[in-house]
Amino acid sequence: MAQNTRRRPLIAGNWKMNGLQADGLDRVRRVAALRAATEVPCDLLVCPPATLLAAISEALAGSPIATGGQDCAPQTDGAYTGDIAARMLKDAGARYVILGHSERRHGHGESDAQIRAKSEAALAAGLMAIICVGETLAERDGGQTLAVLSTQVKASVPPNATAVNTVIAYEPVWAIGTGRNAAPPQIAEAHAHIRATLRQGLGAEADRMRILYGGSVKPANARETLALADVDGALVGGASLDVDAFWAIAQACPKL
Ligand code: PGA
Repeated sequence: MAQNTRRRPLIAGNWKMNGLQADGLDRVRRVAALRAATEVPCDLLVCPPATLLAAISEALAGSPIATGGQDCAPQTDGAYTGDIAARMLKDAGARYVILGHSERRHGHGESDAQIRAKSEAALAAGLMAIICVGETLAERDGGQTLAVLSTQVKASVPPNATAVNTVIAYEPVWAIGTGRNAAPPQIAEAHAHIRATLRQGLGAEADRMRILYGGSVKPANARETLALADVDGALVGGASLDVDAFWAIAQACPKL
């Protein structure tokens, strides 16, 4: 099996429910200016709130920085008040969508089956799905981490997922927004396990698929985290709201 497959890292900013027109546009323009002046050894993605997606996609047109949504509905259209279809995100300029974030799984009670249905809708709309998995602190303390990850990967990732249309993000729930980055051996173990689980369903395609780490990634821990085997980038929450921090994380990617 191709253990040494080179995967270009992806640094994705998840703004969550932060940003209005003025500060959001200012932030991406500053990232775009940095990117126009300097190469980075990674792909860059910004996932703003849905209200800013069209304006930010337009502001980034012509730049190599992609945009993405933070969730989508499994349906294509219809009477679903407040929901947003994958093709609507695409229509607003998105290339990616984050699915199954722990704030959706735990905050909104989303199941693996729902996340898989949303992922299928995203792929059908031509979006790249970033499917998040991760254990809670109680699950880690109970020795359940690897079992939880296996279950989530098997039940959330659609069978037609490929390295071209899908990215996995490992986000231990206890490390998100807490300032508590998982320790390198914990991250390495989880990523290797996720890739082994993906191989069971997808075969060699799993070796080409990017697996991001997310959970309190910041400039101080980015280099060490991004250098780990099977870590192919980061999903960055809080630090993505700070242009200098986001840029420093992008620059911390290992050169291919
Ligand atoms: P954090 O969030 O970087 O603020 O911990 C990561 C995420 O939730 O994607």
